[in-house]
Amino acid sequence: MKYPNSVRIVEVGPRDGLQNEQQPISTVDKIELIQRLAQAGISHIEAGSFVSPKWVPQMADSLAVMQGIERNATVRYAALTPNKRGFDQAIEAKANEVAIFAAASESFSQKNINCSIAESLERFEEIMASAKANNIPVRGYVSCILGCPYEGPITEQNAETHFAKVKQVSQKLLEMGCHEVSLGDTIGTGTPKFTEQLLQTLLEDIPSHQLAVHFHDTYGQALSNILIALQNGIATIDSSIAGLGGCPYAEGASGNVATEDVLYMLEGMNIKTGIEFNSLINTGNWISQKLNRVNGSKVGQALSSLH
Ligand code: HMG
Ligand code: MG
Repeated sequence: MKYPNSVRIVEVGPRDGLQNEQQPISTVDKIELIQRLAQAGISHIEAGSFVSPKWVPQMADSLAVMQGIERNATVRYAALTPNKRGFDQAIEAKANEVAIFAAASESFSQKNINCSIAESLERFEEIMASAKANNIPVRGYVSCILGCPYEGPITEQNAETHFAKVKQVSQKLLEMGCHEVSLGDTIGTGTPKFTEQLLQTLLEDIPSHQLAVHFHDTYGQALSNILIALQNGIATIDSSIAGLGGCPYAEGASGNVATEDVLYMLEGMNIKTGIEFNSLINTGNWISQKLNRVNGSKVGQALSSLH
């Protein structure tokens, strides 16, 4: 089996994680979290989101957070932007990258961003044009790649049609100018067999370096699915420190796979990330204490129980 020599971790905890944590956390603590993650050697951090504060109140202070970070020149600080207004705020916040987010499910698109998939792609054109003018790289997300909270699970019967839809939206995002597409298993229901089938479909026409994987770990399948992605040559993995978060528009969805757990697996496989393990573990414990929650990382928990 062939695996990549190195992997880029995209840390989404400060955005995907904190957007769904119920315990309030101060702007100062968010800034400290991002700085600790950078100090641990993470080179790509999703630091905030410029969406409606009525929809996602947890991200209302993203401008202050991003303006407050002491920047590390080697780190890319990214932000989610649903429309031109969000993009303009991301520029003001000096984001190094923005992310647009579409879905492979019509119902999820309506619930999440209040428009159809086609309308969302049209809306993103304005962002793409401004990003080009400002020389800002754009990442694209596709949600519901392996199941939708409203339309149900992937089955043998609907898999082919659904995966064709994921491919169509991914290709559209790349044609529009996204440098990569992150494939979101929003509700974490995906299993390795369907992950393999989906990736085979996508890789027929999309090079592996333009794909990232974004697994929520609701059903404990994330690491298995990541292993399938690595075997298919995908070397960009989204994860969230201490497994923080969920998705406000996918009830019951738990956080992304924990960064610590991904790092432990990659180190065990001799795959390089540039991340310092102990600093990451300390950061996971620190943020779990701040949020007064159990550390969602199995590795973080195992190591804490040893002390
Ligand atoms: P809308 O209601 O269709 O649009 O929302 P609107 O233009 O009518 O605006 C509604 C209100 O939002 C207005 O305020 C606007 O001013 C305000 P009001 O007049 O009612 O007081 N507004 C904004 N405020 C701040 N920043 C903005 C902005 N735009 C409008 N940029 C919209 C459309 C997309 C804005 C809304 O649906 C929204 O904000 N949705 C949030 C969606 C979201 O953040 N979801 C979670 C992130 S996606 C995710 O987690 C999945 C991912 O992790 C991958 C995966 O796991 O699958 C990426
Ligand atoms: Mg997500």
